[in-house]
Amino acid sequence: MNDIKNNVVLIVGLGMIGGSIARGLKKANPKRVIIACDTDAQALQQAVDDGVVSHSGDLATVCPQADIIILAVPPLTVCELLPELLTFMAPSALITDVASVKSHIFTSSQQFSEEALANFVPAHPIAGSEQSGYSASVDDLFEQRNVILTPHAGNSTDSVATINSLWRELGANVLGMTRVRHDEVLAATSHLPHLLAYAIVDVLLKQEQSEDIFRYAAGGFADFSRLASSDAKMWSDIFVANSAAVEKVLDDYIHSLLIFKKAIQKKEHEKLEESFGAAKQARENFISQHFKPKKQEEMISNQLSFSVQPGGQVAGSIRVAGDKSISHRSIILASIANGITRVTGFLEGEDALNTVAAFREMGVTIVGPENGELTIYGVGKNGLRAPRKPLYMGNSGTAMRLLAGLLAAQSFDSELTGDESLMERPMNRVAVPLRSMGANIDTGDSGTPPLKIRGSKLKGITYDMPIASAQIKSCLLLAGLYAIGDTRIFEPAPCRDHTERMLQGFGYSVSVDAKEGASAVVGGADLQATEIDVPADISSAAFFLVAAAITPGSDLTLQHVGVNPTRIGIINLLRDMGANIERSNERLVGGEPVADLRVRYKPLKGIVISEAQIPLAIDEFPVLFIAAACAEGDTLLHGAEELRVKESDRLDAMAQGLEKLGVTVETFDDGIKITGGPMGGATVDSFGDHRIAMAFTVAGLRAESPIDIANCANVATSFPNFVELATIVGMRVSAIK
Ligand code: S3P
Repeated sequence: MNDIKNNVVLIVGLGMIGGSIARGLKKANPKRVIIACDTDAQALQQAVDDGVVSHSGDLATVCPQADIIILAVPPLTVCELLPELLTFMAPSALITDVASVKSHIFTSSQQFSEEALANFVPAHPIAGSEQSGYSASVDDLFEQRNVILTPHAGNSTDSVATINSLWRELGANVLGMTRVRHDEVLAATSHLPHLLAYAIVDVLLKQEQSEDIFRYAAGGFADFSRLASSDAKMWSDIFVANSAAVEKVLDDYIHSLLIFKKAIQKKEHEKLEESFGAAKQARENFISQHFKPKKQEEMISNQLSFSVQPGGQVAGSIRVAGDKSISHRSIILASIANGITRVTGFLEGEDALNTVAAFREMGVTIVGPENGELTIYGVGKNGLRAPRKPLYMGNSGTAMRLLAGLLAAQSFDSELTGDESLMERPMNRVAVPLRSMGANIDTGDSGTPPLKIRGSKLKGITYDMPIASAQIKSCLLLAGLYAIGDTRIFEPAPCRDHTERMLQGFGYSVSVDAKEGASAVVGGADLQATEIDVPADISSAAFFLVAAAITPGSDLTLQHVGVNPTRIGIINLLRDMGANIERSNERLVGGEPVADLRVRYKPLKGIVISEAQIPLAIDEFPVLFIAAACAEGDTLLHGAEELRVKESDRLDAMAQGLEKLGVTVETFDDGIKITGGPMGGATVDSFGDHRIAMAFTVAGLRAESPIDIANCANVATSFPNFVELATIVGMRVSAIK
């Protein structure tokens, strides 16, 4: 039902928000029938005269006429009206609302169960101002503004999709949150500031000679108190409905005020200046990121550097961030599945979050991530909507290449862009075979992004990959889900098989012939929602495996690490070098093997790296080169030209940094030779490559002097809490802005 163009919409409450919804929906579809209901007869008449509302009436009369009912009323009124609406509305009709509090509907004394409210999909547009009333309504209030859906367990994917479409029609970006998180976030970001505005006016009002004071009040008072002009009924409702969350954040605020009070009493100038300076900086960062959107590629600033002190230890037991490859795939497959998929252990890094944003832009409702948990309301294989702007894939070659396959087969056109590094990476490796399936794709000059894709009907192919690349294989398998006939991909050497495993988890049959190195799908079937537990990323664990392997006295356990045989090159190679790595607690989680890894120090020796291990350790070479620099003798790698086209040219980037640390290195077109020996300190450049930055951090454990690493902001793409975990285990790294 998510084609809503003929739906009759009833708006209950024709104030600024309700009026703006009516105007926006009418602008998007002038033929749409909009009915309204309000106690303000003048506003209703005005809306009819404006041609925005076709007619009005009391709830009992108009409710049964509506396909979608929007409750644009204060939070407590939502609770009051729901029983009436549930009585009068057509059984297939849906209800949504705009209230700034979400939990109270389910928890307050009036209580509704989630089953009883199956047709009610709560929503909250983050739009509006201190103005109120129909006369303040405009037709573009929600354009490019965030609307948060907080679906509950009683909602079906169809009803969520319909309400998503409604907000999308108003030009909004539709996000998803759990209702508890929504209420906490809104308490801090919206409710508290309103309360403070009311309080400051109240304080001034109660001063003697308040008249006189107001007369002299300047811009500061006007700015600060603006929110106190907001609707009094609405805001008293909000505080009653969200009292627990507001009380919590209010306590924090009072605590902070008391600290300021003490500093003022004691005339602690420096302390005040420091706190104000930090707050000023934080606000400016926030304003520049959220209110003055720059070109997206500028948004990831590389101003962050790491400062690593020599020495340190590696001990303890940690779980590193979720697997990036599996996180991307969980969003992609869940979005096109039928039903609701729950994901846990998701990597909340920038790359995977860009994938979440891309699917939201294509009309998928995604709740979270919150503590690594996501709920994805699948729209089915043909349910994606045309993106309204280019899809920004940030730093992620995986996301761009996998999405290229999926988007090539859609019934709409799309464009994929990325950051500076991604805009230079080769895309012909996917564009060429996709074109042979019938895809219509333009790349930029020299086969680089942006990718401009015109959706087309595809046919299956048999393709011999010239490189062992899981990205190419996955891209073509995703296209193959939509193609007529078989799509069969041969790989020259085994490379990661997460797509094949996860497709099977979603009930899509994939035939895998390990002996032949072939993976194949037949187009046309559907995917069914499932549960996904994302293991910890072995590519992130690799930094700690090497850290423990090179540090005398170390003893580190890494929990719940994904040990898919197509990913364990780093374990194999470190063991070849003599490392002491034990696997325990082996289990299968959602089709992916997982284990705990214990590493203790043992001297390493140089090796000749077997070419078969390259695809199995493709992302781990930067840190493996650090292990090589700490090993006795030479380590030699050939056949790894792929490392030149990753997030940076990893052969050159690592060689440059290692040479600066005094390590003897020789590079080849397809590899590197590293001679182990002592390492000094230096300033090295990560070239904006997350894995180079983290690799040189590990080097600090054996360096004789400090290492400063420039351009480290992209560590957030794959391992946002790297510095925190590194510090916990005993590494001496700090991030410097
Ligand atoms: C990935 C595959 C690898 C890897 C990348 C993630 C994936 O790329 O380098 O970080 O998720 O499929 P290639 O298989 O293209 O080498």
